[in-house]
Amino acid sequence: MRVLVTGGAGFIGSHTVVSLIEAGHEPVIVDNLVNAKRSVVARIGRITGHEPELVEADVRDLDAMEKVLQSGYDACIHFAALKAVGESVEKPLLYYDNNVGGTFALLEALSGAEVKTFVFSSSATVYGDPDPATLPLLESSPIGAATNPYGWSKIMMEQILRDVQVSDPEWSISLLRYFNPVGAHQSGLLGEDPSGIPNNLMPYVAKVASGELSKVKVFGNDYPTPDGTGVRDFVHVADLADGHVAALEKRAGEQGVFTYNLGTGEGHSVLEVIAAYERQSGKPIPYEIVGRRAGDVASNWASVEKARLELDWQTTRDLDDMCADSWRWQQNSH
Ligand code: NAD
Ligand code: WQD
Repeated sequence: MRVLVTGGAGFIGSHTVVSLIEAGHEPVIVDNLVNAKRSVVARIGRITGHEPELVEADVRDLDAMEKVLQSGYDACIHFAALKAVGESVEKPLLYYDNNVGGTFALLEALSGAEVKTFVFSSSATVYGDPDPATLPLLESSPIGAATNPYGWSKIMMEQILRDVQVSDPEWSISLLRYFNPVGAHQSGLLGEDPSGIPNNLMPYVAKVASGELSKVKVFGNDYPTPDGTGVRDFVHVADLADGHVAALEKRAGEQGVFTYNLGTGEGHSVLEVIAAYERQSGKPIPYEIVGRRAGDVASNWASVEKARLELDWQTTRDLDDMCADSWRWQQNSH
């Protein structure tokens, strides 16, 4: 399939472009490079032997999207979005404009070009703050109230996509709800490169292991979890990337909206992540317990049965693999 990959130069998008090429598809990246570097394309080329085309454009630019789509596509995977939770609280209009507005323009251009197979980057954030007694989260679990505009933008876009499919049943829409994507490509050539001080746990731990930051601040040890620290379903970005290819191959052209959790089905605590990273890096990772972070949930992890049964997809990499690959990337990227 020839696949338009918006945000394909970013963290999850670049790994998915690798998986698409390796599965014999032809991805074309559209990215405005607001949170990515052009050099990613050459790195994808080194890994796969095929350098994908990158069109530098903003998905909110309808004319640009219509122009890109003139060359003919079978499907679109839509990663392009802003994703910093804290920034979304400071700049809600920017987040709604970029994430929701960008999806509007893209859908309009795709509809005009008769490209109606669409895979969307959703997030476990749509489940809000789940009652720990109800875990694991099922795709049918209630969608919660988001605690920030970023989360609301995902809830809104899911609803918009369901409405679009009702209005025009020709659409085939897969909503992929990622849990906590971490790790990096095994080659050490692709990974996450947050600018400034990382907000997310594993990139922060990586910088403590490398000595760039002095210690991890653990946000709370009084949660109702086995060791009191937050529990999340960390999923290796390369497994996640393969989940997109599976969704595309199983669902392309099939009318409907298909929702899948993409996670491992297992929760790990913040302290377990720190211990695994110490094992894999061989570096001491000092930490201190500080207060809870506003908006954090105690625990969440996925039921992954639906993706396993319907997409024939399951993860193959564990927490130690995620830390080992993150550490390789951390060392290579400096
Ligand atoms: P990322 O920032 O690395 O990738 C997003 C890419 O989109 C970047 O390359 C950026 O330059 C591009 N982009 C942003 N706005 C754009 C626009 N208007 N036009 C064109 N390109 C634009 O982030 P990621 O972690 O790879 O996330 C990819 C998708 O997955 C996002 O939709 C994100 O919300 C979603 N998601 C991420 C996580 C996570 O923890 N990383 C979890 C759940 C869902
Ligand atoms: C994980 C755990 C923290 C940093 C976020 C978004 C979510 C989704 C994925 C896009 C929590 C703890 C963290 C630190 C810590 N993104 N922590 N010290 O918050 O589960 O999810 O990324 O859709 O929407 O909210 O991920 O990595 O920030 O936190 O103790 O310095 O690590 O409290 O328990 P989170 P995270």
